[in-house]
This record gives sequence, C-alpha cells and structure tokens, in this order.
Amino acid sequence: MTDQATGPMAGKTVLVTGGTGGIGKATAIGLSAMGARVGITGRDRGRAEAAAADIARESGSQSVDVFVADMSVQADVRRLAGEVLERYPRLDVLVNNVGGFWAHRHVTADGLEHTFALNHLAPFLLTNLLLERLKASAPARVVTVSSGAQSMGRIDFDDLQGARKYSGQQAYNQSKLANVMFTYELARRLQGSGVTATVVHPGVTRTAFGAEDQAWYFSKGSSFARRFMKSPAQGAESPIYLASSPEVEGVTGRYFANRKPKDSNKASYDTEATARLWRVSAELVGLSGGQ
Ligand SMILES: NC(=O)c1ccc[n+]([C@@H]2O[C@H](COP(=O)([O-])OP(=O)(O)OC[C@H]3O[C@@H](n4cnc5c(N)ncnc54)[C@H](OP(=O)(O)O)[C@@H]3O)[C@@H](O)[C@H]2O)c1
Repeated sequence: MTDQATGPMAGKTVLVTGGTGGIGKATAIGLSAMGARVGITGRDRGRAEAAAADIARESGSQSVDVFVADMSVQADVRRLAGEVLERYPRLDVLVNNVGGFWAHRHVTADGLEHTFALNHLAPFLLTNLLLERLKASAPARVVTVSSGAQSMGRIDFDDLQGARKYSGQQAYNQSKLANVMFTYELARRLQGSGVTATVVHPGVTRTAFGAEDQAWYFSKGSSFARRFMKSPAQGAESPIYLASSPEVEGVTGRYFANRKPKDSNKASYDTEATARLWRVSAELVGLSGGQ
C-alpha cells in the first residue's frame, strides 16, 4: 500500500497521457503506489474519472487528477497544457504514453494524418508547452513510449502524412521512430538543464491497442496471441523504471526495452534528420523559432 509521505516518489508530480487504460493506466498505478501525485489524461471525462478511481483504489493514493483532452487536436493539447500549468506548480515527470494504430487513413480536425498527429505531434507539442515547468522542477524527466516497431520505421519527409500512399503499419512504424528521434533531439536541446529525455519499448502488451480501427492481422488469431503478451502491469515496468528509478537519474537520450538501454533504428542517430524532423514538427504545430 502507498506511503504518500515516504514512498520513493513522494512529493513528485507526474503527468501520464492516456492513463485511462492499458500501459498508461498501469504506469499511473505504479507511480501512484510509489507516492507520486499523478495526473492522467483521456478523451472522455466519465472514462477518465472511472480510471482515476481505479488507480486510487489499486495504489492507495488520494492524489489522482483527471485531465480531459483529445490529443489528436492541437487546440486541445494547448488547452490541456494550460490546465496542467495552472494545476501543477511543479512537474517532475511527463510520461508521453498516448498512441495507437489505425489500419485506414484518418484525418484530424487540423487536417493532419491521425497516426502522425497523435503519436508524434501531440507529445512533441505537449512536451514543448510544458518544458519551462519541467526545467523549473529539475531534476525532471520526460519519458516517451515508443515501440519496437521503431526499428522498421522510415521518416518519409516527402509524404509524412501518408497522403500519397497510406499503410497503417508504415504510419505506425514512422510515428514510433519519430518518438525516438524526438527524444534524441530533445535530449540534445536539454543538455545541462537537469531535464532528461528517454524513450521506451514497453513490450507487446495485452491492451486495447489498435482496437479503434483494427487491421485484419490483429484480429486474426489475436485471442491466441494475446495469451503470450505482457499484462499491462508488465508493460508498464520499463516506463515506471524510467520515470522513477535512481538508477537512471541523469541518463538522457537513450532508448530502453526491458529496463535496459538498447540501440535504436540506425536512422535515429542521424542528427541532421532529427533536427529536420524537429523543424518540420514545430511548423506543423505552430511553434515559433523551431522551438
Ligand atoms: N500494447 C502494445 O503491445 C504496445 C507495444 C508497443 C508500444 N505500445 C505503445 O504504448 C502506448 C500505450 O498503448 P496501449 O497499448 O496502452 O494502448 P491503449 O490500451 O489503446 O490505450 C491508449 C490510451 O490512449 C488514450 N487515447 C487514445 N486516443 C487518444 C486521443 N486521441 N486523445 C487522447 N487520448 C487518447 C486512451 O484513452 P481514451 O480512449 O480514454 O481517450 C488510452 O488511455 C502507445 O504509445 C503504443 O504505441 C504498445
């Protein structure tokens, strides 16, 4: 049971995006159980409040906050950031967990391809909007949940939105590689600030992942495959480790799986490409000065 006063995360404030289910909810439970004040986000207030009640019950915490936002919509991400800044005078850890897979091409309210907008641009924008608060709370951490799919990713700068040709898998792989490249560029920009940036593959985990617009190869045989997947609590182990462990204090610009640093896609080490992706992303979300 939690000791909110003396747990290893006591006094820390953490925001976990997408905390209503799956890996995000399990991450929120784990960090709450260590004594952190945890905020979760979700699109639907009822679902988010029910999840917060579960998280509080399972962790023994009385400090679980709910933020409601559709993070595929940039205006909602901006409103969310404003509410977080208003409610949290300090922010010690941001876990960028929201993400998903869509078999077909969908377009967001901002006219952007949904996978790229939600999986990459939303954490890019939210992190940038919360960066000064994270710096003021240093030592602080940004943990972004990517996927092993990053290793198959390719950033198609000529068709980032999959407008010419869309494949759900390629869009997902690209967005998860973008998570890694974003983290490496962020870590470079944050050198000396006391804020670290790491990125993680949680492992293949039994969640609602991909359910909104399922690819045939997910549904086919998936009930059999699901038996061999990690539980949400197991999938949350590495994100929780990166968010909280003293072992990774000061560690930045690294990709992890199973709590161990791993090499990522070769393309992620191309510093020109990471800087280019940052510039293009800043333009797409309307952040000035390549900020
Ligand atoms: N599961 C796996 O095997 C696996 C493997 C590798 C990486 N990952 C990564 O792990 C992360 C979490 O995935 P998961 O498997 O836990 O997925 P999940 O069970 O589908 O949970 C997704 C979470 O994101 C929220 N969400 C979805 N769309 C949103 C939107 N437009 N705006 C705001 N919130 C939104 C959902 O909340 P609401 O529906 O309540 O809004 C939910 O809390 C993702 O980044 C995924 O790419 C998963």
